[in-house]
Amino acid sequence: MDDIATPSPILSLSHIDLYLGTGPARVHVLKDVSVAVRPGEAVGLVGASGSGKSTLLMVMAGLERADAGTVEVAGTRLTGLDEDALARFRGRHVGIVFQSFHLIPTMTALENVAVPLELAGRADAFARAARELEAVGLGARGSHYPAQLSGGEQQRVALARALAPEPQILLADEPTGNLDEATGRQIMDLIFAAQRARGMTLVIVTHDADLAARCGRVVRLRSGVVVPETAEVT
Ligand SMILES: Nc1ncnc2c1ncn2[C@@H]1O[C@H](COP(=O)(O)OP(=O)(O)OP(=O)(O)O)[C@@H](O)[C@H]1O
Ligand SMILES: [Mg+2]
Repeated sequence: MDDIATPSPILSLSHIDLYLGTGPARVHVLKDVSVAVRPGEAVGLVGASGSGKSTLLMVMAGLERADAGTVEVAGTRLTGLDEDALARFRGRHVGIVFQSFHLIPTMTALENVAVPLELAGRADAFARAARELEAVGLGARGSHYPAQLSGGEQQRVALARALAPEPQILLADEPTGNLDEATGRQIMDLIFAAQRARGMTLVIVTHDADLAARCGRVVRLRSGVVVPETAEVT
């Protein structure tokens, strides 16, 4: 039964089926996956390598289309949107951080952070980008290119870029996977601090048990199936 005091989900996936590859290489990657995430929640997405975590995150971001099922994010049903509309939707509502940073190598740190703001037509793109870099402790590194930054610094730039458009939802795919333990913890502290300060919803794919434990809830995938949450008996 629905609790009327509980806010409706900001992220809702219902009965998602997804296949990747063709012919004999065709794999049933996500099998009847249903997940609902409420506003402001922090969810850790865990499971063995190959269980479908990254694919599920990409479905949440509208970067991968499901073969069946519905995806609703921030009140918008993604299933019917074309590529342009999806890109605009992502730009407004969803920030994404990857394990391998995905910075543009020919742009400085400041320019990288400004990209989504410029795409959104923000007149104050560079001023805001500078503030976001400041917020991750890299105010003095704006003119550096990614190759001139350490891994942890590059991930901080990527985080500033994801946060700059003030997304309601931050999706992170093993954001500390390429970093040493101390640097990874710094990145996670920044992510959780931003989540609290901005009231964002957070979904983090991780292999790190400590990191998963810092999330309010854990969703576990096993071979493309969501393992029922024992803690949720309602
Ligand atoms: N293009 C593709 N064609 C066929 N199968 C694919 C393709 N891309 C991914 N897969 C398969 O989909 C499954 C899920 O992959 P996914 O990357 O989502 O797993 P993951 O849980 O993120 O794993 P990891 O922890 O290693 O990152 C894997 O079995 C993978 O081999
Ligand atoms: Mg993955």
